[in-house]
Amino acid sequence: MKKRYIDPFTPDLPIDSPDRFSGRKNEIDSAVDSLFQLLNNNPRHTIITGDRGIGKSSVLTQVKNIAEGNMELLKRLQINAGVDRFDFICAWHDCSKDQTPAILASGILRQLESKFKNIYKNLKIELNVGGILKIGQQDSSVATISEIVEQFCESLSTISSKTSENRKSGVILFFDELDRVKPDSGVATFFKLAAEKLSRDNIKNIAFFAGGISGAIQKLEEEHASIYRTFKDVPLPRLEKPEVNEILETGFNQVGCSYTTQVVENVFNLSAGYPEPVHLLGSQLLKSDDDDHLDEQDFENAKIEVVETLRRNRLASSLKAAGSGKYQEILRAMASYEGTNIPLSYITKETGYEQNQYSTNMGNLIKRGIILQVDRGVYCFVDPLLKEYIKRFGIITTQDQENE
Ligand SMILES: Nc1ncnc2c1ncn2[C@@H]1O[C@H](COP(=O)(O)OP(=O)(O)OP(=O)(O)O)[C@@H](O)[C@H]1O
Ligand SMILES: [Mg+2]
Repeated sequence: MKKRYIDPFTPDLPIDSPDRFSGRKNEIDSAVDSLFQLLNNNPRHTIITGDRGIGKSSVLTQVKNIAEGNMELLKRLQINAGVDRFDFICAWHDCSKDQTPAILASGILRQLESKFKNIYKNLKIELNVGGILKIGQQDSSVATISEIVEQFCESLSTISSKTSENRKSGVILFFDELDRVKPDSGVATFFKLAAEKLSRDNIKNIAFFAGGISGAIQKLEEEHASIYRTFKDVPLPRLEKPEVNEILETGFNQVGCSYTTQVVENVFNLSAGYPEPVHLLGSQLLKSDDDDHLDEQDFENAKIEVVETLRRNRLASSLKAAGSGKYQEILRAMASYEGTNIPLSYITKETGYEQNQYSTNMGNLIKRGIILQVDRGVYCFVDPLLKEYIKRFGIITTQDQENE
């Protein structure tokens, strides 16, 4: 039997340790530039956007490490920060579905308060957290949001002076999962007004760093004040093969396993450049193996285990959520295509429908989070494993088809 080992893959957790973080040189460089600008009193609020599971929280976590003075990742990526080391005070808030601007504002202020208490035992700062929550109970009108922003920025002004007195680089407020907040809560307006107010009040050592799924952020943008005018956007693309290779190599080396290049190729193709399935498959590959050498057979076993057991329920429910009838036919056609990115012409040919007969269905599949439009007339699965699932188990038999 194989010796017990610590699983080096973490499909369900953002990457915290810099030495397990792969690729993303340009995006980290862009984020570090925001830190450098802020250090020099030129705040650049920044948002990391991308598909579900693409690695947004991992990038934000790395930015926080760097901002707090851990420059290890920058050394490895050979990125010059422009200073020896940053010394920002960071606070982090994970947004969730029913949160309003008042909850966001008070939540992050509470974090800041306890951060200050930790760093400076004797320093007392009084922030108006309760007051903000109270105003927030009223409604989500612009007037209410302005009032919240007023109070929020007043507290930030206190924080700002304490930060400079203590010779810190500045303050960074992280808001992850911004996409979860409902657009009609006024969150986009909140950030816009807060950014403007900070600038008017000459508070130049505080900036926001956010993360959110692209589609949902675009929705915030449509329904409210321009998010992209407030935030500098750093979009995360899918991983390239060398990055996938790096993730696998780091993991496999850690437990002393060798592997064939075909294994990397296979994982890359199946994961479609998303890091989450790479971790899932990596973890399963190690479990399937019994001779410390990973080959194609181990890959086949790992793939079957992931699609048929580990993710089976989740994949089955996304397939169901896609809709019945034509929706399933479209997905069957897409799953039968060889590559990751599937042209409309192929779907037309396979389903026998004219494009205008199923364009609404395509729109709905996007809205339901099942497929993505990669380019004009080119689509892919949001979860690349769903494609594999359909190939193995087929689609859901639909009412219409049963009657036929
Ligand atoms: N640069 C990276 N190097 C190695 N692994 C990564 C990297 N980025 C992300 N991962 C892995 O991919 C998975 C998803 O990452 P993460 O949670 O950061 O994505 P996300 O975009 O925040 O997801 P969600 O949309 O669910 O919030 C995790 O297993 C994480 O460990
Ligand atoms: Mg995340």
